[in-house]
Amino acid sequence: MPELYGLEGPLLSPLSPGRAKWIAPGLLAYGRDGVIVHSGPRRNIAGLKPIRIPKGTIIIPGLIDCHSHLSQHQAVGRTGFTLLGWLKKHIYPAELMLAGRREAERSSRDYLEILLANGVTCSALYTNFYQGVLAAHHQAKRCGIRALIGYTLMDRNVPARLKQNPDQAIGECRELAEVFKADNGEGRLFFSLNPRFAPACSPNFLKSIGRLARQGGLFIQTHLSENLQEIARVKSSFPWAKSYAGVYDRFGLLTPKTLLAHCIHLSPAERQLVFDRECAVIHCPSSNLFLHSGRFPLEHWAGYPKLALGSDLAAGPSPSMLEVMRDGYYTNLQSMRSLFHMATLGAAQSLGLDDSLGSLEPGKQADFSIVRIRGLDEEGSEQVLARMVFQRAEFVKTFISGRQVWPPPRK
Ligand code: GUN
Ligand code: FE
Repeated sequence: MPELYGLEGPLLSPLSPGRAKWIAPGLLAYGRDGVIVHSGPRRNIAGLKPIRIPKGTIIIPGLIDCHSHLSQHQAVGRTGFTLLGWLKKHIYPAELMLAGRREAERSSRDYLEILLANGVTCSALYTNFYQGVLAAHHQAKRCGIRALIGYTLMDRNVPARLKQNPDQAIGECRELAEVFKADNGEGRLFFSLNPRFAPACSPNFLKSIGRLARQGGLFIQTHLSENLQEIARVKSSFPWAKSYAGVYDRFGLLTPKTLLAHCIHLSPAERQLVFDRECAVIHCPSSNLFLHSGRFPLEHWAGYPKLALGSDLAAGPSPSMLEVMRDGYYTNLQSMRSLFHMATLGAAQSLGLDDSLGSLEPGKQADFSIVRIRGLDEEGSEQVLARMVFQRAEFVKTFISGRQVWPPPRK
């Protein structure tokens, strides 16, 4: 077995929200341990016999989806309502269908494979039920994807069979945290605590979740300020709170390991709170369009390092981060480089994993895809990215830590 592997072809990798590295032709080289040793112009490296990638293809880093619901992927395209009506009519029934272990295994396998086929190498996920987390953990290990996995925590204002007893759920989450500690899929898998949103959780439940997150140093994923009716409901359920973000803060849920999806209608004071607590802000443009939730005010977050994109499937109809980037472009006028950053390096920063993920740089993991782009020319990073997004690029192969994960290698 060789010590070094290398691919020759054009490379595209983010540097900052406004800048990307476009090297054509370039060389990506990585060791047998899956760590990048060179990402730049072609050069001779002792012991390396690089393979040239096909004409018309380029190499990009693995895409990262910072917010999605694995347990909703059967419920894409259910229209007619904004957030609260949509949850009640379409989503709670869909999530209930995954109560059995076998169904959860099948659904996890299908969804995770769709992600790899779309060049998504890391996904921050919500599933349902204790068994659902075990199934997702098992299937993520099997296919080699990176993931944050938690089950949707809720104890009020949802159908009885989705409602948890807080003490029991906290006990289960402690156990699941131990399962992930014992087997984190070679560092690729993280357990997270996912309170659905404040309207579906009692104060006591939120408090216990905050305590467990602190004790275990766990990731937290939740929704914040997505829809005006939702915000009104938070006001009436938590009359003492200064704001929606203030509810989460009161219970210790705003931490540097918290991912907050949407953040559309935040007041200046709430934005300051999110900023002070160093939470990640996850912009979900496709979902915001589908549910008519409102426009994410990108202008308020210019320069914020923990800004990422989420598909928010099933409110967002596509698992493809290219489609999410396209909808981000329709939502706010910005460069494609800034959207690319939010789907790669900005996402890795949001997860606190940018020392190893998010861009093609020496020392980082060799997570990347070979992508075929129609009409590819040498116009530089902005136009190459625009082609990739608006001409539906094809993901030819995807690798995680230098190992091919898509198409699945033959055993
Ligand atoms: N808010 C609370 N639950 C959900 C959900 O499942 N999807 C979206 N988009 N928003 C939510
Ligand atoms: Fe969501």
